Amino acid sequence: MVSTSQLDSVFIKSLKRELVNYTPVWLMRQAGRYQKEYRDIRSRVGFLELCKSPELACEVTVMAVEQLGVDAGIIFADILLPLEPMGLGLRFEKGGGPVLDNPIQAVKDVEALQEVVPERDLDYVLQAIALTARALDGKTPLIGFAGAPFTLASYAIEGGGSRNYERTKRLMYNEKEAWDALMRRLSSLTGAYLIAQIKAGASAVQIFDSWVGCLSPSDYSTYVLPHMKELIAAVKGRAPIIYFGTMTSGLLPLMSQTDAEVIGVDWRIDLDEGWRLIGEKGIQGNLDPIVLQSDRDEIKRQTKIILDKAAGRAGHVFNLGHGVLPETPPDNVKYLVEIVHILSGRS
Ligand code: CP3
Repeated sequence: MVSTSQLDSVFIKSLKRELVNYTPVWLMRQAGRYQKEYRDIRSRVGFLELCKSPELACEVTVMAVEQLGVDAGIIFADILLPLEPMGLGLRFEKGGGPVLDNPIQAVKDVEALQEVVPERDLDYVLQAIALTARALDGKTPLIGFAGAPFTLASYAIEGGGSRNYERTKRLMYNEKEAWDALMRRLSSLTGAYLIAQIKAGASAVQIFDSWVGCLSPSDYSTYVLPHMKELIAAVKGRAPIIYFGTMTSGLLPLMSQTDAEVIGVDWRIDLDEGWRLIGEKGIQGNLDPIVLQSDRDEIKRQTKIILDKAAGRAGHVFNLGHGVLPETPPDNVKYLVEIVHILSGRS
């Protein structure tokens, strides 16, 4: 259940483009390896095990909120979790990235994908959300999330991270029916998963399309946008939706054709120029995460540039342009949150 105080929170108001007294801020990967407490937990349990323990996932989510004083929590999980019950064989290598042991290589592999029912197969995430929403006690809204179909498809096809997405694009161009079937499967699963997260207690959701910026605008329009429109329309109205990607400067007018309330942008575009391209929606971003590895003067200077470009307009949520990196000094992360609140204060 969404409590009254969550409905009134600065974060949710900003997502709805209502005027607020200061700019809300949360950070992608606000819970993670830059924190000593997180590394301590991870020395005892594997990453997947942590995601699958509702109690531990709740603990690291709430810890980040309390340490940083951010305006929203994001449930500790991973965009790749739904690929495991699809039958793709997910694991995280020590010190490395994710690996899918049974990647999609041919049309028959798309047909062989298992049906995923979020309430059955991803129940641990829903339980973690329910526990965390209760622990945050209506004071801080909780964000649910999922990967966007393109970004999920890229992992499912490449079998892990990729530089040029060659296998993904080859399948997209050469096996149009299989691509369409895969995107439809991923869209409907993601829609059901996000709705289940909202029912479990998420007050807003973010869809991560981290790697969609590798596409030309015309390929995005043809092969991705119709699926994104359908996915976002299915979730629309239940909770505000943030649609995030990186390297999307050329895609922003197309991404904003979806019904998402807010578009998340990275630092490769000026915030005001990004907002102009997005049009009548809110914007989230967009500090370069590596600025957090500089001194306080530089962090303050760059934060002020972004806030000046937003110019107090309703609908700005401050964030990094991508996740907090492991080498980041924790005190700088805390300082960023403080300085956003101070510099943007309007009351
Ligand atoms: O605080 C939060 O933002 C919530 C937790 C969260 C994680 N992953 C935890 C995580 C979220 C929202 C994600 C999203 C995610 N996962 C994305 C989209 C955002 C992005 O970064 O572009 C992607 C592409 C993934 C896939 C993924 N998960 C990769 C490529 C990796 C390995 C690289 C890395 O950064 O470690 C992960 C692992 C992962 N997901 C970690 C965390 C905290 C590190 C795991 C560890 O503890 O060793």
